[in-house]
Amino acid sequence: MNIGVIGAGKIGSILVKNFTRLGHHVSVANKQDVNSLRKLCHATGAQAVTLSEVCQNVEFLFLCVPLVAIPEIARSLKPSLTFSTIVVDTGNYFPPRDGRIEEIEQGQVESVWVAQQIDHPVLKAFNSIIDYYLENGGLPPDSPDRLSLPVSGDSAEAKNKLLHLIAALGFDGFDAGSLKESWRQQMGTPIYCTNLTRSQAIQAIKNANRENSISLREIRTKKLLESSPRTPEEVLKMTRELQGITNK
Ligand SMILES: NC(=O)c1ccc[n+]([C@@H]2O[C@H](COP(=O)([O-])OP(=O)(O)OC[C@H]3O[C@@H](n4cnc5c(N)ncnc54)[C@H](OP(=O)(O)O)[C@@H]3O)[C@@H](O)[C@H]2O)c1
Repeated sequence: MNIGVIGAGKIGSILVKNFTRLGHHVSVANKQDVNSLRKLCHATGAQAVTLSEVCQNVEFLFLCVPLVAIPEIARSLKPSLTFSTIVVDTGNYFPPRDGRIEEIEQGQVESVWVAQQIDHPVLKAFNSIIDYYLENGGLPPDSPDRLSLPVSGDSAEAKNKLLHLIAALGFDGFDAGSLKESWRQQMGTPIYCTNLTRSQAIQAIKNANRENSISLREIRTKKLLESSPRTPEEVLKMTRELQGITNK
């Protein structure tokens, strides 16, 4: 399958490595010129391309960038993004990095905002797992500790295709509902970066409370900014404690 990835930072480069390992043909673009991607492409066999090329003839396009970059990226994508491409938003709104995005501050769901910016439907996935666990946490099917990843969006067919891809990466994906409801997997919700198994994750999506999630997002952000760097294990522990998750 042909897959495009925008962003070759922590999340983008992990997805590039994993998708190429599975035998997919991956094109990758970032903000700098294509030379900056030489090392990643040499290691994985992915192809470095420009932003206007990355969405050409791809079945999936993954957006792995800070939200603040989305409007600029939307302008590059517009001429060549075709309707059949499944766009996956892996992003989270993080004001210390993204600045203030007024529509989101006023209550717009983050991925609904992304879909509006790029004028194309999106699925929301991979936003709720710490990069380290995305890279190292995959397990075979039926492993009791297999981590679960929510996928939200409005096309059942597109979600189904993405769930197959997620399973091949070693995670237990599940349909978490519509894009409008995807606030249930945003930063600060019980499923966000807490490494849950399938039954726990389905319950966490049901239990999400919008107001709580906004205040927990702010508390988590403050804690992260106060004491970085932290290990992935420490970030996981702190996030689970904030959600009151004590069991395994
Ligand atoms: N890190 C995590 O654990 C984690 C987990 C889940 C979700 N997320 C979310 O996933 C997204 C990516 O996070 P990350 O940690 O991978 O970020 P990152 O390491 O900072 O990488 C960001 C990437 O985006 C690219 N980029 C920035 N502006 C761009 C533009 N205008 N056009 C094209 N590419 C652009 C950068 O390109 P250059 O290198 O050329 O500057 C870089 O490759 C964020 O929304 C984040 O909240 C992160």
